[in-house]
Amino acid sequence: MGIFEEVKQKVEEILENAENLTGIGEKDLQTLKDKKDILISWSDELMDNFYRTLLNYPKTAKVFEKIPVERVKAKNKKWYEEVVSGKLDKNFYEFQFLVGLIHIYYGIENNVMIFMAQHLKSHFLNKAVETFETEEAIAVFKAFSKLVDFLIALTIEGYTFTLREALMDIAGYTSGLVDTMMGMKLEEIYRALREGLPERS
Ligand code: HEM
Repeated sequence: MGIFEEVKQKVEEILENAENLTGIGEKDLQTLKDKKDILISWSDELMDNFYRTLLNYPKTAKVFEKIPVERVKAKNKKWYEEVVSGKLDKNFYEFQFLVGLIHIYYGIENNVMIFMAQHLKSHFLNKAVETFETEEAIAVFKAFSKLVDFLIALTIEGYTFTLREALMDIAGYTSGLVDTMMGMKLEEIYRALREGLPERS
């Protein structure tokens, strides 16, 4: 199987997990579609706030020494507007894997992605509560949240996927050997933590 097919298969597996575990699906897309004009009208405010936070923290601001923040903001804005328009096809889910990889390429850590997803979702929730009746606000927030989490899940899986591919394709290890090495390290780290940490009652 070629790398493109492997990625497609991985995305399908993750989508199946998301559908079964979070219920992500057409209903969420319809919820967003129904409110799309209002949700799109929030995009400048959400994006300004998102990148202000990244620029105010030296560790994340560093990324924008290599690439203009306005360019990144414009891409993220386009992404947000596509998500809240609720008009997503299967290809969109695969595209999320690529978006995740782009962040890995720029050395953005998974924890930073998770925290910024939280940042975006919190701001979105505030706007939803200010704008809609409680039930509608909850539904819109849940739908948006599931799609953001899907991107984050793919980013995290993309990291492990790339690392495994590198070990197998470049270092020449078999999948079984990678698992064995992981298992051995896991055992060592597990023991060190069990011994190093005080018992919790
Ligand atoms: C919820 C979190 C995030 C979302 C939804 C998001 C979304 C996106 C999207 C959609 C793209 C464009 C992909 C493309 O079409 O080329 C992108 C690119 C990028 N993002 Fe993010 N991003 C997030 C977090 C971050 C963070 C935390 C940083 C920096 C610390 C960051 C920095 C970048 C950079 C440098 C690019 C590459 C732009 C380019 O090559 O033109 N992103 N992001």
